[in-house]
Amino acid sequence: MSILKIARMGHPVLRAVADRVEDPHDPEIQRLIADMKETMKDAGGVGLAAPQVFVSKAIMVYFVPSLRKSDDPDDGEVPVSVLINPEIEPIGDEVVDGWEGCLSIPGLQGVVPRWNKIRYRGLNEKGDEVERIAGGFHARVVQHEYDHLIGVMYPERIEDMTLLGFNEELREYPPETTFRQTAASDDAVAHPDEP
Ligand code: NI
Repeated sequence: MSILKIARMGHPVLRAVADRVEDPHDPEIQRLIADMKETMKDAGGVGLAAPQVFVSKAIMVYFVPSLRKSDDPDDGEVPVSVLINPEIEPIGDEVVDGWEGCLSIPGLQGVVPRWNKIRYRGLNEKGDEVERIAGGFHARVVQHEYDHLIGVMYPERIEDMTLLGFNEELREYPPETTFRQTAASDDAVAHPDEP
């Protein structure tokens, strides 16, 4: 396994719509998935999409640490998981705000609105179909990584650009603002792909 270089915002690979994976069993795909898991772990993130390692394919890896759990019954600890060719649909119309960071935008964080509850489908690394309902932080991570597969970065989702800044500054000067119920209220800085 290898630790891969992570693309930073501005690189065109992050703007492209990723290609579907034809054969999850392809040894190259299997190696990429193993490397993505290793890279996510090394970078201290909770999610990573293939375009972030310069591969424009619809693959994401993610997990939900227990400490990120919100009160949502569909939120909670998720082991390191793989989703290939994912599809997402919102359940209901509740939108929640929460802090996000991104391994491709090091040092920054912003408040991003996301669906509170989603259903997602795709293939796991064995090529089996998976379908899952996710809420809270789990739903946020999946939406953030899914966005990478359609060429969207989280700043494009931000509604209030005064809530985008450097981690250290925001820690020193927390914004005085009231969000719609945050997805990870036990953690002021809940970063989908950066701790
Ligand atoms: Ni990201």
